[in-house]
Amino acid sequence: MKPVLDVTAVSMNFGGLRALNEVQLEVQSGEIVALIGPNGAGKTTFFNCITSIYEPTEGEVWFTPRDGARTKVNGLKPNLVTELGMARTFQNIRLFKNMSVLENVMIARHCRTKTGIWGALLRSPGVLREEKEIVDRSYELLKYMGLHKFYKELACNLPYGAQRRLEIARALATDPTLLLLDEPAAGMNPQETETLKHLVFKIRDEMDMAILLIEHDMSMVMSLSERIYVMEYGCLIASGTPSEISSDPRVIKAYLGEEAHA
Ligand SMILES: Nc1ncnc2c1ncn2[C@@H]1O[C@H](COP(=O)(O)OP(=O)(O)O)[C@@H](O)[C@H]1O
Ligand SMILES: [Mg+2]
Repeated sequence: MKPVLDVTAVSMNFGGLRALNEVQLEVQSGEIVALIGPNGAGKTTFFNCITSIYEPTEGEVWFTPRDGARTKVNGLKPNLVTELGMARTFQNIRLFKNMSVLENVMIARHCRTKTGIWGALLRSPGVLREEKEIVDRSYELLKYMGLHKFYKELACNLPYGAQRRLEIARALATDPTLLLLDEPAAGMNPQETETLKHLVFKIRDEMDMAILLIEHDMSMVMSLSERIYVMEYGCLIASGTPSEISSDPRVIKAYLGEEAHA
């Protein structure tokens, strides 16, 4: 099976700080993989490197879309990476707070449309059809994420957990092959986290998607992931199945703490 994401020895320096040190990671199609590690380990920086927000100091990021050729991501503009089929959510929620919930998803969907500026101004039949497709698909995704009853609300009026789910709906609107989630359960209560967990499974199973998530909620990580990578000070210190990771002495020492061992 060919990997969707295939990262070879990526390093990232910020001046004198080596935030990532030869990080090697793979995600296979249809896999749910977690990246864990203490705060400051370099997890978000890694997401920024694979989505080409940062250009890695060293190493290569390769991505294979569902129906496409293996492509080197380094140096591409981030919007091109989205068009190729990588979508992400952010650790700090980034929504258009004063737009409606539906509009937030519609805007994300625009990367999959063909309408140019003239078509949009002239409102040709093709454009109107495309607009309808955008509205329908956006509403469908809201329904999928359990948000359709809020579709007219301003994004800023949604409860916190719903805002996080809206971010995921926005990412899904770009039709990704690989979905990257940066701490999706952060700030959620246990019930919201449980709902989220089932949604992530559903997305993977029904939308034929690979998922790479950064998460601190260990019960979520352990029950969702097929494989886990553990990062500390910019280096990968372990990778394996949840049971391998939870019994790895280095991981317990670095991250899980003695209580997890007990
Ligand atoms: N743009 C940047 N400029 C300088 N240092 C950065 C930048 N982004 C992240 N860092 C540093 O890189 C390290 C890793 O940060 P980050 O990737 O946010 O960690 P994590 O997501 O694992 O908590 C931290 O020491 C952070 O301060
Ligand atoms: Mg982070």
